Amino acid sequence: MKSKKNRVFIFDTTLRDGEQAPGFSMNTDEKLRFAKQLEKLGVDIIEAGFPVASEGDFAAVQRIAGEIKKSQVAARARTRLRDIDRAWDAIKDAAFPRIHTFISTSDIHIKHMLKMTKSQVLKESCNAVRHACGFTGNVEFSAQDATRTDRKYLCEIVEAVIDAGATTVNIPDTVGYAMPDEFGELIAYLFDNVGNIKKAIISVHSHDDLGVAVATSISGLKAGARQVECTINGIGERAGNASLEEVVMALETRKDILGLHTNIRTKHIYHSSRLLTDITGVQVQPNKAIVGANAFAHEAGIHQDGLIKERMTYEIMTPETVGVSDTNIILGKHSGRHAIREHLKKMGFDLAREEVDTVFKRFKELADIKKEIFDEDIEAIIAEDIFRKPDKYKLLYLSVVSGNAAIPTATVQMEINGEVAQEAYFGVGPIDATFATIKKITGAEYTLVKYLVHAITEGTDAQGVVTVQLRYGERIVSGRGSDSDVLVASAKAYINALNRIESFQTRDDTK
Ligand code: KIV
Ligand code: ZN
Repeated sequence: MKSKKNRVFIFDTTLRDGEQAPGFSMNTDEKLRFAKQLEKLGVDIIEAGFPVASEGDFAAVQRIAGEIKKSQVAARARTRLRDIDRAWDAIKDAAFPRIHTFISTSDIHIKHMLKMTKSQVLKESCNAVRHACGFTGNVEFSAQDATRTDRKYLCEIVEAVIDAGATTVNIPDTVGYAMPDEFGELIAYLFDNVGNIKKAIISVHSHDDLGVAVATSISGLKAGARQVECTINGIGERAGNASLEEVVMALETRKDILGLHTNIRTKHIYHSSRLLTDITGVQVQPNKAIVGANAFAHEAGIHQDGLIKERMTYEIMTPETVGVSDTNIILGKHSGRHAIREHLKKMGFDLAREEVDTVFKRFKELADIKKEIFDEDIEAIIAEDIFRKPDKYKLLYLSVVSGNAAIPTATVQMEINGEVAQEAYFGVGPIDATFATIKKITGAEYTLVKYLVHAITEGTDAQGVVTVQLRYGERIVSGRGSDSDVLVASAKAYINALNRIESFQTRDDTK
């Protein structure tokens, strides 16, 4: 039975804790696009960023706050008053704004990082919460490194911030240290020892350093917490955060014993995961629960036999529940505009008429060289042709000579802010020659951190998708490109990374 008291609020921090991880940087347009998907997914609270960190973060949070109408939009702030003022400035126009302030509470952090006393931390926490409450009644406080905090002190601080006005109190396992049972006991301990605890929602936030973040989060919910902080694909600091799709589907699939429910529209889960991959260029591992390529693939004959007879023999949830369609085949040369439009809708894309026309045109071009078009091909088209705003750099032409009797040489023609530029240069191999020529044309010197290529779908006519990561100051910026020619895909990926670096250039990297 769904009751108010068993309702779990989903707080997504993909755009903050997730985006902080190397290789996951997103620009403002990308963040907004992803935030809209989270809203569609039914996320209760979207943590949009850390406005005081940089102008870029501020702008992204402000833009998300202005456009998201159904979900709450949270901005993170340290307990410094300037952080809180900046957070509020960024979210004040949101339909449902939330200020999220935090400070470390463990002895180890207080002594070595903050160089404060415990009573100073307590006082500063209450001041911060009171200050935030001057702006909004929706204030969250996080006791960073709570799982390594002295329990009595943790109770004291939780009680004090609730008295000061915090409506949500988050108990993070910041370093992914807690065991699930132990964490559940900690939450139960708080419920037993904090007098005013019922006046706030208790939240959990686990990191995956020991691979138990989802189990830890669920243990906290069983003990009475009613908000869980998580990220799509489990991205986040170090080993990542508890994965939203795993937490939600565990609650959904085992509601028989957990008795908890969320407002997540699970059929949008898969698309949300794919969208994050498309934006960041970082794939999930094939065996990843819920959204990995093999999550619903049954290889063993005995399993396949069982499935044919009765799906539930080897499937605890259906792929359709999370939006994995069983119709990932296929559009062909003769598919019409209407079929494409319907298929796009099924995949979770609400595109405008002219955007559908663009996809259709590219689809037809691809269908001329490739027999069957899969969802992954369509996603690649959308990523490249719909959501990339007019870029500074554009590839016009690439020709590469290589082989074991030639010095690999690339000729590249590009458009830079509308002006055509062309160069030829060599390298140790065809990819190196291509990248060296692009560097020569653009003058952009960034270290290549990663180069990855894989086939989007099966078959020798499959498109290659290339992911390139470049080091830009402290950031690792990804770029992706796809094409039936891997060298062209590589050039596109490199150029995409350069364009994404351009979009970060206004940011001051103080994170
Ligand atoms: O891991 C952590 O402690 C955090 C808090 C700021 C919520 O991300
Ligand atoms: Zn965290």
